[in-house]
Amino acid sequence: MKQITLIPGDGIGPEITEAVKAIFEAANVPVTWDEENAGQTTFDAIGELIPSTLIASLKKNKVALKGPITTPVGKGFKSVNVQLRQMFELYSNVRPAKTTPGVNTRFENVNSVLFRENTEGLYSGLEIFDERLQIADSISRVTREGCVKIVRAAFEYATRHGCKRVTAVHKANILKHAGALFLSVFREIAKDYPNLQADDIIIDNMCMQLVVKPEQFDVIVTTNLFGDILSDLCAGLVGGLGVVAGANIGDEMAIFEAVHGSAPDIAGKGIANPTALLRSAIMMLHHIDLKDEANRIEAALEATLVNKEECTGDLGGKANTMQFAQNIIAKL
Ligand code: NAI
Ligand code: MG
Repeated sequence: MKQITLIPGDGIGPEITEAVKAIFEAANVPVTWDEENAGQTTFDAIGELIPSTLIASLKKNKVALKGPITTPVGKGFKSVNVQLRQMFELYSNVRPAKTTPGVNTRFENVNSVLFRENTEGLYSGLEIFDERLQIADSISRVTREGCVKIVRAAFEYATRHGCKRVTAVHKANILKHAGALFLSVFREIAKDYPNLQADDIIIDNMCMQLVVKPEQFDVIVTTNLFGDILSDLCAGLVGGLGVVAGANIGDEMAIFEAVHGSAPDIAGKGIANPTALLRSAIMMLHHIDLKDEANRIEAALEATLVNKEECTGDLGGKANTMQFAQNIIAKL
């Protein structure tokens, strides 16, 4: 039995977590959950956003599944998500975006995986504010080592999964240092993978290409801010944040997460869609080499998504969160 740290999160987090736990149990997945929360709920209870018991659990288990977390706004709190990524050097943010039969979208056959550098760039935390002059600097720090790690992760993934093309997204024409360093590292590393098509594209053109002809992209790799924006754009191409998976992966640890937020508008109603967290949990099963379990659950999920009425309201169905989960369980 592999032990996994489970962070239910805030808002709809506990509701979608219960659904995933029920599906895992029904599928006899050989994992046990070490439940440790973070976020608003723990802050209200014990005054800590990231309790030390959670940190200990993560260090021990090295793999976690995380629901959405509300970060208190305007009190100088640093985002829990950003803190966890930096604390454990989870430098790859991996976001697959694949068209699913039954989920309404404008496009067919989108099948891309975005690798976003997760710890540096404009989100390095190097922020200076001159109160007197009212000048704000948010520094984008990119390191060679950081670029090497994310670019390698993208090429390695493409090789393992039989992808054909890796595309780097950048703004090296304007960002003469940060952009240029990332692009030059990409071109160097691409030489080690002669069987893959490697190309690069400027971020603005990429946005246009993605909303016109998204089927053309395979693996995409980019720096932190561009990746943050593009990953949500890609989610929109395949049905939105309610249906896409996400993972934060480092050399030592990986945290799989629903990429949507805590949805305070529907929290407590039991109607949230558990698909995003379930898909992240399926990615997690691949990561810990439980491929049969991953494939079985994925097949049951896909067989449910094609019957709209068996899904939650956001997908056009009538089921609540647990009914949706039961409909998936019935197909295992
Ligand atoms: P949100 O993603 O929570 O909600 C946006 C809209 O999508 C809402 O109408 C919500 O009802 C709907 N929605 C989201 N997930 C859904 C699901 N699984 N099923 C059905 N409908 C769903 O974004 P919002 O409102 O901007 O943020 C709310 C809170 O979440 C904030 O405190 C924010 O900081 C936090 N947040 C946390 C994230 C994380 O932990 N990864 C990511 C984004 C936001
Ligand atoms: Mg984001």
